[in-house]
Amino acid sequence: MSEGEPMQMNEPGAHFEAGRQTGPVILDLRHISLSFGGVKALTDISFDVRQHEIRAIIGPNGAGKSSMLNVINGVYRPQQGEIVYRGEHRRNMDCYAAAKSGIARTFQNIALFKGMTVLDNIMTGRNLKMTSNFLLQALYWGPARREEIAHRHKAEEIIDFLEIQHIRKTPVGRLPYGLQKRVELGRALAAEPDILLLDEPMAGMNVEEKQDMCRFILDVNDQFGTTIVLIEHDMGVVMDISDRVVVLDYGRKIGDGTPDEVRANPEVISAYLGAAHGH
Ligand SMILES: Nc1ncnc2c1ncn2[C@@H]1O[C@H](COP(=O)(O)OP(=O)(O)O)[C@@H](O)[C@H]1O
Ligand SMILES: [Mg+2]
Repeated sequence: MSEGEPMQMNEPGAHFEAGRQTGPVILDLRHISLSFGGVKALTDISFDVRQHEIRAIIGPNGAGKSSMLNVINGVYRPQQGEIVYRGEHRRNMDCYAAAKSGIARTFQNIALFKGMTVLDNIMTGRNLKMTSNFLLQALYWGPARREEIAHRHKAEEIIDFLEIQHIRKTPVGRLPYGLQKRVELGRALAAEPDILLLDEPMAGMNVEEKQDMCRFILDVNDQFGTTIVLIEHDMGVVMDISDRVVVLDYGRKIGDGTPDEVRANPEVISAYLGAAHGH
């Protein structure tokens, strides 16, 4: 939203975009630069994410999109810049601390335990929420047993929500790709995140699978109030569901705004035309 635009004041800092009410900024990336040896993956990238927003990151392959998510959840440590999360300033995120403080993600290449069932994979998303120690859990005794039951209950709720009851006992490796992606979403949701980072959740899906995934993302955002940062190549999807879009190209930010603003941005148009010729 541009500076001069009138705010609709339902609550302090409230904004409306794509018909959705978003809150104040909860995550602010400031002047982030990241390189690997001589390769500059990100150069001076700044953007913010508002509470309850669906924020898309788009750009051609190699633009630095996945690297950006890795900076947000502490997998990569940027050489320059600052991350402000819930008002706390830091040079970089710590992976474990990020997860503990409510940031969950899915990966561009599915990262699940292929030999384990859907239910058990989703249970692994509860790990950070478990308080009983390992010995008690191994003995499956007393408080650990009660805790285990509560976690299973939560996992089953997520399974119902994602409409995957029929495959809850199926080893993930036997499922078609689209369903594996849905299970990975389930594993991330099991952590009950405040911010969900999704790296190409619809890549490789057919039209129907994409529609389902879109619906689940919108439902998560709506029903759980989860803030979503989404990397996606399907422009139709991005334009449909996101409040604001960041555009990266060769590690630089070339656009940032509402879908309509980004679509009309000449630099973005030429990056995409260039990419279309290059591939
Ligand atoms: N772990 C890494 N080691 C070395 N180079 C990397 C690493 N991760 C990403 N890169 C490089 O950073 C650039 C951006 O990659 P990436 O963030 O994966 O782009 P995108 O997700 O937009 O396709 C690419 O040039 C890629 O080769
Ligand atoms: Mg990527």
